[in-house]
Amino acid sequence: MRHIISPTDLTVSELGELLELAEEIIEDPTKYSDVCRGKKLATLFYEPSTRTRLSFEAAMLNLGGSVLGFSSADSSSAAKGESVADTIRVVSCYADICAMRHPKEGAPYVASIYSEIPVINAGDGGHNHPTQTFTDLLTIKNLKGRLNNLTVGFCGDLKFGRTVHSLINALSRYDNINIILISPEELTIPSYLRTGVLEANNIPYEEVRKLEPVIDKLDVLYMTRVQKERFFNEEDYIRLKDTYILDTKKMALAREDMLVLHPLPRVNEISVEVDEDPRAVYFKQAQYGVYVRMALIMKLLEIK
Ligand code: CP
Repeated sequence: MRHIISPTDLTVSELGELLELAEEIIEDPTKYSDVCRGKKLATLFYEPSTRTRLSFEAAMLNLGGSVLGFSSADSSSAAKGESVADTIRVVSCYADICAMRHPKEGAPYVASIYSEIPVINAGDGGHNHPTQTFTDLLTIKNLKGRLNNLTVGFCGDLKFGRTVHSLINALSRYDNINIILISPEELTIPSYLRTGVLEANNIPYEEVRKLEPVIDKLDVLYMTRVQKERFFNEEDYIRLKDTYILDTKKMALAREDMLVLHPLPRVNEISVEVDEDPRAVYFKQAQYGVYVRMALIMKLLEIK
């Protein structure tokens, strides 16, 4: 039995197979419409979500399976003090696979220790969000045709943005990746990523404060929201939230084939006028999330 807690829980080769399967599903989704008949996915969401929970549910329904779960801690027995360990023991009796989102870093890992079914981390605090990373990689591979030889810019809240942490980790395993980190001083990446991932893997990177001087170097611009829910005080959030706003003026400085990704939800960091630009692929990216989660459910349930 496999769990997916970190984006590197799949080898590069396994990840390649997963993305290939997702691309086959894109070609002919109807071929897979019955492969999970009789299987159940539990979505255990202790934190709000639109895309991750609903795309997991859509993925299982597209495969002919069923879904059950809760969408907030308040509507589960966590509100009465039940531990993650006890919850997953019980859910293992009701479902074949589960996706868990939790505000505490490591909660899905704890669940995996006690679980009788595969556990997928659907986002744990400011730590990791592996299935968003698989979505991002599928988007880049499908639209750029490669996962190597890329200069990727990450812009916004790089301290708390778990999607950023997971994607940096995953990209560090491909050849000729350059990373440009664009953030305010207070929202730079955690040092474990700088030393333990970028430097440990000899990934060239630079840290800058402004987007305009570097945007023309990028193959992919990964915009992120400032994560209000992770701030200790509102004053800091209000001061930092609109540091970067991608608009058509900044897009005019970028390459014609640069892709703009964003895990969403967006607040102000991408002006709605940019949505019309063919390089803005964040809504397409959300669609890819369904296909890659279909592939992941099939892989973890060992469905050929
Ligand atoms: N990208 C993402 O995780 O979105 P949700 O928080 O809506 O699931």
